[in-house]
Amino acid sequence: MAGVSGHVALVTGGSRGIGRAVSLFLARGGAKVAVNYHRHHEAAEEVVAEIQKSGGVAKAFRADVQNAREVEAMVEAVARTLGAPDILVANAGIGDPDYRGAWNLEEEDWDRMIAVNLKGVYLAVRAVLPFMMEKRWGRIVAVASTSGLTGGTSGIHYAASKGGVIALCKALARECAPLGITVNVVAPSKIDTDLLHAVTPEEHIPRLLAQIPVGRLGRPEDIARAVLFFAAEEADYLTGQVLVVSGGYGS
Ligand SMILES: NC(=O)c1ccc[n+]([C@@H]2O[C@H](COP(=O)([O-])OP(=O)(O)OC[C@H]3O[C@@H](n4cnc5c(N)ncnc54)[C@H](OP(=O)(O)O)[C@@H]3O)[C@@H](O)[C@H]2O)c1
Repeated sequence: MAGVSGHVALVTGGSRGIGRAVSLFLARGGAKVAVNYHRHHEAAEEVVAEIQKSGGVAKAFRADVQNAREVEAMVEAVARTLGAPDILVANAGIGDPDYRGAWNLEEEDWDRMIAVNLKGVYLAVRAVLPFMMEKRWGRIVAVASTSGLTGGTSGIHYAASKGGVIALCKALARECAPLGITVNVVAPSKIDTDLLHAVTPEEHIPRLLAQIPVGRLGRPEDIARAVLFFAAEEADYLTGQVLVVSGGYGS
């Protein structure tokens, strides 16, 4: 099985949570991994060190995904140091721990959510596409959310950003299919990361667990497995799809 071996993967938000697990899984599969981070340099370096300890190749790259110039510079640096990126995992994202209903939502909080979660995907895609088009091969996997399908409980701006990612990827999949590039989405629900705990008061966790048929929160590794499924060479007839990874929550 070829999987992701020999490819160069860029994981946005690879420093923590789901992106961290995705970076480790890609490296274990034999890909060189560019671990993008924004604020947590040490966390990114820790992921890189763990990959290198197991004989893999990885490097940390700082960029704020909502900033076009920083994203372009990062992708050029990845190409120079690791090689042309041909796998993109657009995972970086934020939640809003202070959300208190649509009627209280400030315009700047709406703008920030859309800029990081949605525009950030567009900017990363735009920056990597020329490399994938030249190779006539590429894998783009976005990490959206079940909120983008159902509305969820994390706010209208979060749901809109994730619904936007799903629509973006479906349109992009059509454009990219003739170029040998597939585009798919993984939609997690409740995954045990810093983000989940920032937006979910601890006293709500038992009630949440009672609504998850599998009986536990998701682990970052559960999402990494789904990402690897789409990123593999063998997945060349899979495009424009959304894979919900939820432990049965909400279905
Ligand atoms: N956890 C869940 O239950 C859940 C459910 C559905 C969907 N998701 C989605 O899964 C993705 C990962 O979430 P997570 O739970 O792993 O979150 P997390 O633990 O908070 O990690 C977020 C990651 O995104 C990076 N990031 C945030 N803002 C960034 C920016 N402006 N530019 C570049 N990187 C940035 C962070 O980098 P730094 O640490 O360097 O700042 C970090 O590596 C997000 O898109 C989220 O919406 C999560």
